[in-house]
Amino acid sequence: MRLAPSILAADFTRLGQQVADAERAGADRIHVDVMDGHFVPNLSMGPAVVESVRRVTRLPLETHLMVSDPDAFLEAFAEAGSDSLLVHWESNANLHRTVQRIKALGKRAGVVINPATPASVLEEILEDVEQVLVMTVNPGFGHQHFIHTTLPKIGRVRRMVDQLDRRCDVEVDGGIDAITAPLVIDAGANVLVAGSAIFNDVEDVAAAMKRLASAE
Ligand code: DX5
Ligand code: ZN
Repeated sequence: MRLAPSILAADFTRLGQQVADAERAGADRIHVDVMDGHFVPNLSMGPAVVESVRRVTRLPLETHLMVSDPDAFLEAFAEAGSDSLLVHWESNANLHRTVQRIKALGKRAGVVINPATPASVLEEILEDVEQVLVMTVNPGFGHQHFIHTTLPKIGRVRRMVDQLDRRCDVEVDGGIDAITAPLVIDAGANVLVAGSAIFNDVEDVAAAMKRLASAE
């Protein structure tokens, strides 16, 4: 199981330190949540933040684009230093073209599906992507409750990936903590995004990550 700390929950006044803490504690990658106030009802960060984080870590940076027009931002985030660009199935009528654009930029491509979107929409795009991100909350905010009905879908995505017999991460995002982590791992996820379970006032980043990792 690999952990992708989401900096949405980080203390932005100490962002560099928090990313360094996550790297030292064994994070696999850093997850950057981008929101445009249109695709989701919230605003977050842009390429400038990716550029800053790029300077303080060697970890891969994955950018989760919760925006209505992902094509308009691919280049900016690639130039800022993103290694993966994750686009929502729901945000794009031309997903195949967007995925090809991400590949042409030399980046890993990922497709994200919302809680109400079935795994079956991935069927014709799975061969072209390196990551599938299954939303386990409705996108837009951190600190939300895990939606348990997404568990069978994680299993379906895992089976689809295994059937294709190719390396493709099955990643989950939202409401992941020490209680839900074992459930999503059992269901077939191999990368867990976690925001508030890693960056919080209760424990330091290393202790929080250790607790999550041992929850397997
Ligand atoms: C939600 C974001 C998540 C968020 C997860 O829209 O995509 O990455 O940061 O936060 P937690 O782990 O607090 O649910
Ligand atoms: Zn995310």
